[in-house]
Amino acid sequence: MIAVVKNGITPATPSEGPAIWARAFAVLYDPFVWVGERAGVRALRRELLGRTRGFTVEIGSGTGLNLPHYPDELDELVLVEPDLPMRSRLEKRLSSTRRRVRLVDAPAERLPFADRSVDTVVSTFVLCTVDTPELAVQEILRVLRPDGQLLFLEHVRSDSPRLASWQDRLAEPWRRFARGCRCNRAIRELMVTGGLTLDDVREGSWPAMPPIVRPLIAGRAQIGTSNG
Ligand SMILES: C[S@@+](CC[C@H](N)C(=O)[O-])C[C@H]1O[C@@H](n2cnc3c(N)ncnc32)[C@H](O)[C@@H]1O
Repeated sequence: MIAVVKNGITPATPSEGPAIWARAFAVLYDPFVWVGERAGVRALRRELLGRTRGFTVEIGSGTGLNLPHYPDELDELVLVEPDLPMRSRLEKRLSSTRRRVRLVDAPAERLPFADRSVDTVVSTFVLCTVDTPELAVQEILRVLRPDGQLLFLEHVRSDSPRLASWQDRLAEPWRRFARGCRCNRAIRELMVTGGLTLDDVREGSWPAMPPIVRPLIAGRAQIGTSNG
């Protein structure tokens, strides 16, 4: 039986661009990333999400591409998505699954969960888009239990100065096209500076996508101060 609980705690729809593009972007998102998903990202999602446990909160769930990869035995799965057109696509996908999921309308910067209550936070291609990523990291730290984990898959600022300079040059047009996505954001540094310890970080490339969003990192982060 499908169980979707909506919890509209806040009118959180991101305000990037006109409403018509917001709706079009939500419709075009899956076809746009489809080749990349087939060429490797789906496998990365499967591997990453196989590590989820306990009470799991996914931020910025989008159209729900992670949904098929969650283990059955989670205590609870909550999908957080503040954008109305994305959330509508997500609801559609949820209507064809038997999994029990709670769907919440909230931004990553204001998560409606108690301190130290969450075992796993999942973020895939989201920290590039949130308006105040430092705040989102602080919220993740706040809601995670002391032994909790953040599982992430994100596109990041390139280590190559040449590609990074293209990312800077094209940041603004890309942000407008991709509804707030910052292709030049240094997400690994952001997480570390915020107080997360990263382990098991894998670097990769997002296949079949423009070079400015190809550099990827995937892995696990926990609350802590030392980073290897
Ligand atoms: C590139 S999409 C990624 C969707 C999905 N996580 C995936 O892996 O395909 C970025 C998502 O972040 C959401 N988003 C934007 N601002 C956000 C915020 N402040 N907090 C949480 N999610 C946000 C967008 O609505 C969108 O669904």
